Amino acid sequence: MELTGKRIALGVTGGIAAYKAAELVRLLIKQGAAVQVAMTEAATRFVTPVTFQALSGKPVFTDQWDARVANNMAHIDLTRAADVLLIAPASADFIAKLANGLANDLLSTLALARDCPLLVAPAMNRQMWENAATQRNIATLRGDGITLLGPASGEQACGETGIGRMLEAEEIVSELIAHFQPKLLAGKKVLLTAGPTFEAIDPVRGITNLSSGKMGFAVARAAQEAGAVVTLVCGPVSQPTPHGVTRFNVTSALEMHAEVMRRAAGQDIFIGVAAVADYRPRAVAENKIKKDGRAASPIELVQNPDILADVAALPAPPFCVGFAAESRNLAEYAQGKRAAKKLPLIVGNLIQDGFGGDENTLVLFDASGETALPPGQKIDLARALVQQIALRLAGR
Ligand code: PMT
Repeated sequence: MELTGKRIALGVTGGIAAYKAAELVRLLIKQGAAVQVAMTEAATRFVTPVTFQALSGKPVFTDQWDARVANNMAHIDLTRAADVLLIAPASADFIAKLANGLANDLLSTLALARDCPLLVAPAMNRQMWENAATQRNIATLRGDGITLLGPASGEQACGETGIGRMLEAEEIVSELIAHFQPKLLAGKKVLLTAGPTFEAIDPVRGITNLSSGKMGFAVARAAQEAGAVVTLVCGPVSQPTPHGVTRFNVTSALEMHAEVMRRAAGQDIFIGVAAVADYRPRAVAENKIKKDGRAASPIELVQNPDILADVAALPAPPFCVGFAAESRNLAEYAQGKRAAKKLPLIVGNLIQDGFGGDENTLVLFDASGETALPPGQKIDLARALVQQIALRLAGR
């Protein structure tokens, strides 16, 4: 529950994407938020207030003169009690109102009278989005410090394809969670590796390991939430890309090495979370290898380049953070890898804790010793790690 205790005022305006706002309320509640919905009159034509009332467990407001709010001050009361005002979907018309400071219904009055941040998720037809008037209004909102969430590109309700779709409910929830994280890495560039590598033996076989990518993807997400520009290079995994993160898929250690070295210049931080194969077959057999009655293995192995060590050895290296998964002697082995690869920081975890699951236990090792982070979900540990990296970066 990543929004526990957060109070979200959700404004719903008139557009077909209003149906997605119902799912959004459900997901926000699931994350522990308290949601107060206000709708424009047009929004009630698409989804009834009863739907939002049932999902949020609170009465829904549509009218500026609603006598249920003390002294008819709904526009003041509703945002005073909120940590954030989120408008999703925000129609072109409503965005125009916001840009011009109009306050002629409950939701626009609420937006003008708010004393909390405003996040806006536009939803409209491609041509309405691209219209010069809408683009002017969007620039005004940005200039006024309003956060725009999306829009995305894709199929539209009108049958066209293009930019203007509202972000999916899950993506808006991620953005909201990110909004509440401290921006400890604002303006920083972070490059990461995650997942396993796969070293082909023949067309159907290969050497790999059980890394799921979860830890690396959690660190990528936490860095993005902290305001960094994040690039993730990952081996074969089935994790969804964290919102706002640029992802490059690779298969082998050699490909991961090439992709990382291509992008390492200009990065502020490099974090190697990937479980990279130390060895690969010298040659990949063109056809499936047969037993042929041989006793000895036909696979000859050669060593892979060390991506992390190579980044740390660059003339102007980013702040380099390694990971070490060990089955025993965690401190000794992790500190040994830190020294060998010349890293300021390495993160140790036990194999039985780290691989595959959603939880982990991390211990940070640097020149001054070790710091254990409390065991927990990988995303919480990733946020704590980002905090530790930001502290060390500031002290460099
Ligand atoms: O993906 P999950 O299922 O969530 O699991 C997460 C994890 C257990 C894989 C992760 O937390 C972790 O510990 N990753 C590092 C695994 C490891 O022990 O790596 P290593 O000891 O082989 O390498 C040490 C460091 O050097 C790592 O940062 C690694 O990315 C890097 N390295 C290693 C070899 C190589 N050729 N190039 C590298 O960059």
